[in-house]
Amino acid sequence: MARGKQPSKAQRTPKVHRAIVTNTVDDFEAAFWPDERPVDNAVVMTMGALHEGHAALVRAARKQVGPEGRVAVTVFVNPLQFGAGEDLDRYPRTLDADVKLAEENGADVVFAPSVDEVYPNGEPQVRLAAGPMGERFEGATRPGHFDGVLTVVAKLLHITDPDYAFFGEKDAQQLAIIQRMVADLDFDVEIVGVPTVREEDGLARSSRNRYLSEEERTRALALSKALFAGRDVAAQGPKAVREAAAAALDTAEGVDLDYLALIDPHDFTEAADDFQGEAVLAVAAKVGSTRLIDNVRIIVR
Ligand code: PAJ
Repeated sequence: MARGKQPSKAQRTPKVHRAIVTNTVDDFEAAFWPDERPVDNAVVMTMGALHEGHAALVRAARKQVGPEGRVAVTVFVNPLQFGAGEDLDRYPRTLDADVKLAEENGADVVFAPSVDEVYPNGEPQVRLAAGPMGERFEGATRPGHFDGVLTVVAKLLHITDPDYAFFGEKDAQQLAIIQRMVADLDFDVEIVGVPTVREEDGLARSSRNRYLSEEERTRALALSKALFAGRDVAAQGPKAVREAAAAALDTAEGVDLDYLALIDPHDFTEAADDFQGEAVLAVAAKVGSTRLIDNVRIIVR
């Protein structure tokens, strides 16, 4: 630097990665595809209220495409995947904080469309059907949920047209069904699963955790504790895993169990007693009025 010349303010301020926020498909496309340069690109789809779990997905996406690649984060609370009496109306909406978290973790563009922008013709008449994989476990309690998820994921894949799409293992059944959709219907995208991010005490990060009172949050720890108890005896086979996890939940207070299951991740059916290999030990329960899900991937012998 020439003697006596002070650095400008811009030079002194460390460069912050800024994301462009778009609300329409046209604006998104202009921001995500600014030129014809073929660079790798990735999308992370969310319903907002972003936390460390989402952040891990954005970082994984950035790592995958490299500094020259492009990363989009979509923020859209999809009415189609909520049943009557579920939390659509009270689902937390925190867009400013979401944009900050997305850009801090490497997003180039945030796409936060309105319901009308995503469904300009009103409720879609034609939807994707998740089939039998979408009727078990989460699907049994939430009929139509996975049809709604697949319909919006397919639409957002068409709009964003990415090389890679990142989803969390936290929603194991969702991840498995999306992988199956992409394989069965020849979507030209690679689906990447990202391990579940937890609080230090084991509670899986979730946008819905903010509904929990302090007492409920303590009670909610029973879910991850049960999964870890099952994981600890994975070498002893499916029966031992189920029993250990069930025993941990038996003594839990204030936890209204929906299901606890050891699942074959390929087709999301219950694993047989002689099952061997990678399995998903999954749990769903209501704590107070909040429904929580969690799972661990284990190798059963
Ligand atoms: P949402 O619940 O916001 O989750 C967005 C993504 O973040 C999903 O892929 C989910 O599995 C992942 N995720 C959430 N918590 C996580 C955690 N603790 N660790 C790792 N990943 C985590 O899932 C949805 O939204 C919607 O169904 C969507 C796919 C966006 C379609 O509307």
